[in-house]
Amino acid sequence: MRRFLPLLLVWVLGTGAVLASLARSPWWWTVAVPLLAAACLGGRDLLQRRRPVLRNHPLVGRLRYRPEPAAVRRVPAGAREPSGDGVEVRAVPVGVAHGPDDEYLVSSLRPVEASEEPPSVRVGGPGCTRPYDMALLNVSAMSFGALSARAVLALNRGAELGRFAQDTGEGGLSEHHLRGGGDLVWEIGTGYFGCRDADGGFDAREFADKAALPEVRCVSLKLSQGASPGTGGVLPGVKVSAEIARERKVPAGETVVSPAGHREFATPRELVLFVARLRELAGGKPTGFKLCVGSRQEFLAVCRAMVAEGVAPDFVVVDGSEGGTGAAPAGLAGHLGMRLTEGLITVHNALTGVGLRGGVRIGASGGVATGADIVRRLAQGADYTNAARSMMRALGCVGALRCHTGGCPAGVATQDPLRTRALHVAEGARRVRLHQHETVRDAVRIMAAMGVRDPGGLGPAHLVRRSDTGPARSYAELYEWLAPGELLAGPPRSWEADWKAADPDGFC
Ligand SMILES: Cc1cc2nc3c(=O)[nH]c(=O)nc-3n(C[C@H](O)[C@H](O)[C@H](O)COP(=O)(O)O)c2cc1C
Repeated sequence: MRRFLPLLLVWVLGTGAVLASLARSPWWWTVAVPLLAAACLGGRDLLQRRRPVLRNHPLVGRLRYRPEPAAVRRVPAGAREPSGDGVEVRAVPVGVAHGPDDEYLVSSLRPVEASEEPPSVRVGGPGCTRPYDMALLNVSAMSFGALSARAVLALNRGAELGRFAQDTGEGGLSEHHLRGGGDLVWEIGTGYFGCRDADGGFDAREFADKAALPEVRCVSLKLSQGASPGTGGVLPGVKVSAEIARERKVPAGETVVSPAGHREFATPRELVLFVARLRELAGGKPTGFKLCVGSRQEFLAVCRAMVAEGVAPDFVVVDGSEGGTGAAPAGLAGHLGMRLTEGLITVHNALTGVGLRGGVRIGASGGVATGADIVRRLAQGADYTNAARSMMRALGCVGALRCHTGGCPAGVATQDPLRTRALHVAEGARRVRLHQHETVRDAVRIMAAMGVRDPGGLGPAHLVRRSDTGPARSYAELYEWLAPGELLAGPPRSWEADWKAADPDGFC
């Protein structure tokens, strides 16, 4: 409650100053009026619903948690309101860059009409019997535990309003994920939370029961995430409330560290067979995996296993090492694994090279916050994108970097009931939906300006990197792009060593 003390003090002093000006001297009004104004402002902070941080920190939040300028933090579109005619127009400040400085998307002299309907991509390869139409931008994996119940519910309601998907994160399928009616991608991590047997292994029956729920549209096996590949997810003890302890079948108040790797498989072959088993247990719903790519050889080993076993995932989500997390071992973030551009191009090429790209959709996550980010990722080989932190910001996150302490000032990444109360679910859902809608609309407009009607029409020639030392070159020229089946027919020299070393019966 300490956070309300400054406001209380202002109220007490203001009342004292008013009494003094009535009882003693009118000069006291010079003190009373500013104090009353501050007291009113603080009262307004407490009552408003749009900025949870101000409900939690009335008055002080204005000084301490000032939103950074959009150009610096690339604040998501959810922070804006749609204008009357649906076209938002704004001035571009001089010297402000809007994307990576060294890249641009290729505009066309034959632009097309932007389509009114937001595009979607069908996820579901040959092994899937219940395909799902995935939106271009979805809520990336963030579990109940890392996020508050209200944040999870607001994201879910936002997903329902905007017809996009929410990934549950590795913490399991909680009732808060199911209350809003939004589509879910159920993530299974190395802790198997939500389908965990007494030994901490995978419980097939519990998994099948929950996967049958109509809200669960896809299943995603988490191999790794960009912020900390090769280490298990961490939920600090301060966030392990009684409810979360029940959900995860762990002791309350103790830090939960998921195992670094999966118990159910130890080789690429076993991995792809496990994916096929999950899909079968899930009644044919699209099933895939999420990873931050470590080495090309290792991903090729997984592709070789797919070919050898004749099974493939329905999707692969590539997370870049620039991705965020609620808590990770200090000193690791950003040092392990490929950044999104490298990872995406590696996965796209490898799947193309083994002739499986047609049936496997690729999702991309890592810093996606604007329409241009989506288009860049599609040009690099993705079919759709996921976002975590920009969705959190749409909910009211101010980037205080206190997710791991349980003291999130905005009530988004905390389990403290007093703090989470500040987050208004309906308002949060509205803003999340608005962010997703506006961001996808921007992406569609950008594509139209590039002369591209359909996301499938984007390719590496549409993205150009500038160079200080030579001419600008498109991604089509900068990278090698394999033809369908090329690795099987005979890999090019540059891929030969990795392809030969890739072993379906052993990770690197
Ligand atoms: C608070 C928070 C919790 C997260 N929890 C998970 C998780 O449970 N499982 C997972 O695969 N990734 C998790 N992530 C990573 C995101 O899903 C995503 O891969 C990464 O943040 C990159 O996206 P971004 O740059 O849009 O944040 C989490 C990220 C954040 C910020």
